[in-house]
Amino acid sequence: MLVAIDGPAGAGKTTVARALARELGFPYLDSGAMYRSVALMWLASPASEPAALARGSRIELRGEVVLLDGRDITSAIREPRVTEAASTLAADRGVREALVAKQRALLTSGDWVAEGRDIGTVVAPDAALKVFLTAAPRERARRRADELGADVDAVLAEQALRDARDSTRAHSPLRPAEGSVTLDTTGMSVAQVVAHVAALARKAGA
Ligand code: DC
Repeated sequence: MLVAIDGPAGAGKTTVARALARELGFPYLDSGAMYRSVALMWLASPASEPAALARGSRIELRGEVVLLDGRDITSAIREPRVTEAASTLAADRGVREALVAKQRALLTSGDWVAEGRDIGTVVAPDAALKVFLTAAPRERARRRADELGADVDAVLAEQALRDARDSTRAHSPLRPAEGSVTLDTTGMSVAQVVAHVAALARKAGA
């Protein structure tokens, strides 16, 4: 079965999806890492067409480790310039089509916890459980700022721009999937969120 975890940046998707995958014994798919990998390629080769880079890329996700043509890019894709470029490229229809095809190919069989923005709406609308994780903007910014060691107000401003870009883009805008459960994690601990989603997953057959 597939558990889809979507939602905006800073809602806790990555932490929750990884912990949930461990708890259920399911593999974990970080679709954002694929957009980030294409962004890293594009920054290295800005004259290339992003969709062609996405189609030709050999991205391997091994749990939490990301390999591009065999090279470990796990930390490189977390750099702020890559975060920024990934958000821009995520609005490119050709990039999305190429990466959605790769994600669907992976998710066709077996058990998965998959994390992203459009897993429940576009990649796998038939997922057994679709969760839309969210939290108040300031709380999301505070969590990111803690992670990055950055200033909350600066993160909040940058986050507002990214949120607007992610939710107003023409192709696969960020929104809760039909039939999804929205969970506002403001004020909840990671353990509480994971326990809540794990209970939903077990009810759905995990
Ligand atoms: O979740 P993340 O921050 O690693 O995602 C990086 C970027 O990719 C972010 O701008 C949103 C975009 N993204 C997307 O559009 N669709 C996905 N399924 C996953 C990520």
